[in-house]
Amino acid sequence: MRDARWPRQHVWRKAIWQAMGNVGLTGMHVLPVHKSWVDFAHYPMAIRGLPAGLEGRRIIQISDLHCSPMVRASYLWQFMDWINELQPAVVVVTGDLFMGGRRYAHQLAHMLARLKTSHGVLCILGNHDYGLNGKAMADRGGRRVAHLQSVLVEHDIQLLRNQSWRMRGTDGKGLSFVGLDDEWSGRMRPDEAFASVDALDPVVCLVHNPAMCLQLLHYPWQWMLTGHTHGRQMAQGPVGKRLFPGSYRRFTHGLYTINGRHLYVNRGLSYGQRHQHWCRPEITVFDLRAAAK
Ligand SMILES: [Fe+2]
Repeated sequence: MRDARWPRQHVWRKAIWQAMGNVGLTGMHVLPVHKSWVDFAHYPMAIRGLPAGLEGRRIIQISDLHCSPMVRASYLWQFMDWINELQPAVVVVTGDLFMGGRRYAHQLAHMLARLKTSHGVLCILGNHDYGLNGKAMADRGGRRVAHLQSVLVEHDIQLLRNQSWRMRGTDGKGLSFVGLDDEWSGRMRPDEAFASVDALDPVVCLVHNPAMCLQLLHYPWQWMLTGHTHGRQMAQGPVGKRLFPGSYRRFTHGLYTINGRHLYVNRGLSYGQRHQHWCRPEITVFDLRAAAK
């Protein structure tokens, strides 16, 4: 639980964060972050048909690292140690892993290799992994991502591109993680990804953009973990929707329940585009639970 003194302790951080955010300068924030400024959000992850032996196992989600000249490795490194203290079974990284030159792919992989898990580290791609504007950089973005993939593989880190990965229980049954490629790149192929899943497995779907949630409802996932928004909600109110219709996002941060499924939107670790002081860097901690049928 958050310390009740938290708001008072962080008055000056909130003031700096909000002042810089208001003028679009949150990306200039290069101060090391005190651990208590990080939002460790804890949730039970109830799964129907959870394989035996996985109860209580910990899945940690981080997102939107944007490892680049703007989001420095020295800032991101500290999170790896804090994640290790939580003893995760699996760490999932839901896209926007790096920006800038290819050397940042090496920095990122080196950093993620520091994570200590019992089962593994799973990554998916976000729009910025293909380039600054993922929509318009199909060819060059494809080469960039292939480079990232080879570097991650060298470090024993999985990059799921329309693929699944299975966490096995003691009864031999599995919990499947389905990782989709980025939608903006035109490479998202859910049919292909879900075809690789055992029909009896419960599924956690990893996709960068939560806007995809509704059109993916006909696939058999129970939980969907996403990022992309950095928590921003500029156009959430009635006035905002009118002023910034193009910026309206239905799913901006936190947990949503849709037709009995669970969507989680992580606010990410990098510091760009955070327009509210509560948009602190987030590490989400899910503890697996067997759900009632
Ligand atoms: Fe992002």
